[in-house]
Amino acid sequence: MIETVMAVIHIDSIATISLERLLAIPISLLQIGGPIDKTGPIIFLIGALGLLFYILFGVILKNKMTSVGIDMSDNPNTGADAEFILLVGSETGGTRVFAKELMNQLANRGLKSYLADLNDYTEYPKAKYLMVLTSTYGEGDAPSSASRFLNRLQKIPQGQQINVSIVGLGSTDYADFCGYSERIFRALKEQSWADMPMPLYKVNDNNVEEFCEWIKALVNYYSLPLIASPALFSVKPKQLRTFVFIDRYFSEDEQLFRVRIKPDTNVNFTSGDLLSIYPADDNRERFYSVSRIGDAIELVVREFPGGLGSTFLKNTVLGNSVKARIMENPKFHFPDNKRPVIMIANGTGIAPFRGMINANRRVPVHLFYGSRQKDVYDNFLKQEMDYYLQSGKLSGQYLAFSRAEEKLYVTDLIRQQSGLVTQVLQDKGTIMICGSLAMQKDVLEEISLACQELLQVEIQTYLDSAQIVSDCY
Ligand SMILES: Cc1cc2nc3c(=O)[nH]c(=O)nc-3n(C[C@H](O)[C@H](O)[C@H](O)COP(=O)(O)OP(=O)(O)OC[C@H]3O[C@@H](n4cnc5c(N)ncnc54)[C@H](O)[C@@H]3O)c2cc1C
Ligand SMILES: Cc1cc2nc3c(=O)[nH]c(=O)nc-3n(C[C@H](O)[C@H](O)[C@H](O)COP(=O)(O)O)c2cc1C
Repeated sequence: MIETVMAVIHIDSIATISLERLLAIPISLLQIGGPIDKTGPIIFLIGALGLLFYILFGVILKNKMTSVGIDMSDNPNTGADAEFILLVGSETGGTRVFAKELMNQLANRGLKSYLADLNDYTEYPKAKYLMVLTSTYGEGDAPSSASRFLNRLQKIPQGQQINVSIVGLGSTDYADFCGYSERIFRALKEQSWADMPMPLYKVNDNNVEEFCEWIKALVNYYSLPLIASPALFSVKPKQLRTFVFIDRYFSEDEQLFRVRIKPDTNVNFTSGDLLSIYPADDNRERFYSVSRIGDAIELVVREFPGGLGSTFLKNTVLGNSVKARIMENPKFHFPDNKRPVIMIANGTGIAPFRGMINANRRVPVHLFYGSRQKDVYDNFLKQEMDYYLQSGKLSGQYLAFSRAEEKLYVTDLIRQQSGLVTQVLQDKGTIMICGSLAMQKDVLEEISLACQELLQVEIQTYLDSAQIVSDCY
């Protein structure tokens, strides 16, 4: 019991710490049903005490932390008496760091401010200013701490006019740059109580200068006593851990390599999570998909010449360490429903799947993998995948090499295996896609065609039910 609670606490601050999760007690501890013997009542008593502890602890934690870990005890005011309301949408915590600094500035000037998750949006009777800071995930989708906001907004109007301003944090690497902040902007514009003279501000890759443009605008529009100094907002998230470089293995083309690292303290992680590093004191974090092999983390990385993160991972001497954090990525964990799984990847997209296949016992898993050269695959992955096939951890493998004589892409594989793909969806299985965004787009189009032709079902149905999930970049 205590072990489970500790595991929840060890998840880094970005983790969703919900009451439901805290109540996820191993059923075996409760021993409900089954033959009655001498140990039964004792185990039940331990279970019951544990449950009580769990609930009490969960309630305390829930009151202190919101879903992405905003520490509510930092709030100098309540939502009912604050004039400045800061609402945050964040998945991995970056946006929260900006919001906290902004709140500190307001508080230091004696202004009554209140910071909360967008999901906790409610009535703010004394509010004069509402500032929304949110990131975007998927295709213009909400981060986890904001998923319920738009719904709540329609149901909870404010009783007085409020000055509203919005900043979106995102990345131009994604087609829908700051898409969720745009949706919020439009939805708030429709509220009669919202005064919105300012345009929507957007920040790429946590660029502090761009963020400060929004702060400057707040100063100009509303004469607020804020300091738009990038240095003040250049704060890295705390709770970085030390990870030691254990091993490295290079592929034929040298730019693609595997790297094995180990946390020096107990860190909770699983395949599909992300490792986040800050190379060379750059303020922008780089993410790498994690495979869990034993108690080590394995990454698959492509070096970008001149790239800070990838060359750091390539060149750091074994035995040296990196300060990083694990970001839980539950949407991309191996499903626990025992239904068949199709994994689709290109290039470094194989990274999280190696650990998932390695840990697989009985689930039918089919891998569709695309790479440029066959040589690179042969020397880098073949041996490992052959072992998985022989041991039954992998049921089928379909390969495409775009620079081989017969040029093939993953999309060709999906067309060839459209029967398998749709069967897995019909059997309530999952399709997991990891790798480049371009590949993801083409793959989704191909799956969409197969769904229409063979199942007469729109792909959206499977995206909505999370039977098709992606982690692409
Ligand atoms: C959710 C997620 C998971 C990821 N998982 C992995 C992973 O498992 N393995 C992995 O290798 N990477 C992964 N990445 C990408 C990784 O985070 C870095 O973006 C990548 O390593 C480049 O960072 P860098 O610091 O080396 O380059 P930067 O210093 O950011 O850029 C240096 C140069 O490289 C160019 N460059 C950077 N990225 C690209 C690109 N994608 N295409 C073309 N040019 C580019 C830039 O334009 C620039 O000129 C992931 C990204 C995300 C968002
Ligand atoms: C898996 C993934 C998907 C993303 N999708 C988008 C997107 O569609 N549009 C966008 O502008 N940014 C996207 N981003 C970038 C994040 O919004 C950006 O890194 C943001 O600063 C994260 O803030 P947070 O740490 O507060 O969640 C994505 C990032 C990841 C890791």
